[in-house]
Amino acid sequence: MSETSPKLRAELEGIPTYKPGKPAAAGGPVAYKLSSNENPYPPLPGVMESVTTAACDFNRYPDMACSGLMDELSERFGVPLSHLATGTGSVGVAQQLIQATSGPGDEVMYAWRSFEAYPIITQISGARSVQVPLTPGDVHDLDAMAEAITDRTRLIFVCNPNNPTGTVVRRAELERFLDRVPSDVLVVLDEAYREFIRDPEVPDGVELYRERPNVCVLRTFSKAYGLAGLRVGFAIAHEPVAAALRKTAVPFGVSQLAQEAAIASLRAEDELLGRVGSLVCERKRVVDALRSQGWTVPETQANFVWLRLGERTLAFAQACERHGVVVRPFPGEGVRVTVGETEANDIFLKAAEAFRKEL
Ligand SMILES: Cc1ncc(COP(=O)(O)O)c(C=O)c1O
Repeated sequence: MSETSPKLRAELEGIPTYKPGKPAAAGGPVAYKLSSNENPYPPLPGVMESVTTAACDFNRYPDMACSGLMDELSERFGVPLSHLATGTGSVGVAQQLIQATSGPGDEVMYAWRSFEAYPIITQISGARSVQVPLTPGDVHDLDAMAEAITDRTRLIFVCNPNNPTGTVVRRAELERFLDRVPSDVLVVLDEAYREFIRDPEVPDGVELYRERPNVCVLRTFSKAYGLAGLRVGFAIAHEPVAAALRKTAVPFGVSQLAQEAAIASLRAEDELLGRVGSLVCERKRVVDALRSQGWTVPETQANFVWLRLGERTLAFAQACERHGVVVRPFPGEGVRVTVGETEANDIFLKAAEAFRKEL
């Protein structure tokens, strides 16, 4: 037998691995997981019922076109069916977008630090990542991004609100940026946390997409709608882009369980958005408490807060675990903490206060 291994693509070397938020230890001292920006509420009974009914047929393939869900989305957002595409979570759709636009020799641009999947899915495609540092206030530097565009730029992610900082770009600055982007470069407005925004100056990407054929909006059912474990997200984009997304989709990627749960969730939107409202209240409580403890917390419009702790990041994350909450450290940079159930937030605030006193 030959000793050589199968030839793999050179681009895969050195790809950072996606670090999922650490789970809460079973039976251990840690009780709450605040490391993955999940929704802490359990599924609504009606959504659960739609999933259990769909489960009776999982010997069958799902509806590949996601027809029922596409109809609901088309109605809900007032967009034609031909402008919609679904995928296995919005990260799946983001990967489809890169596959559809970018390959070796091309550039994919995004702010950094931002959503950790961007460098991974860019590198897999063979394209080059162009990372534009956030401003000192942890906000997208849209002027620097516009200046970094070259004739090789194919796709630009604008993560709004930004993961992990929670910061936003507002209407005027985003429109000014979009005006500067060549019309053959795709701008992807990643709005995974859209439903948590309360700042009226933050534009709804769907409004921007309507006037601009090179704008695509990414949304997910994982956060506000609480379906992270079922993997379904979608894009709204003009026809050539949406059609390309359907070509690059994994066939049958979105399960029937996910499709039915998404439909049921859209129909239960009022109740789900009520839960989002409670989390937004908790967010304010957490941010206010942290600030009164003396922390600098960037303004967040998402379901998480960001503490720039630099070298103290890992020590802080360990201190949180000792108290009973798992947070998400980015070593050397900072900690992202999801706003969870009240008890979990209380534990986190106690941990933050104790850590602060020891500084
Ligand atoms: C900014 C952003 N985009 C996309 C995603 C992907 O979410 P999903 O694939 O669950 O839809 C996440 C998840 O954390 C995110 O933070």
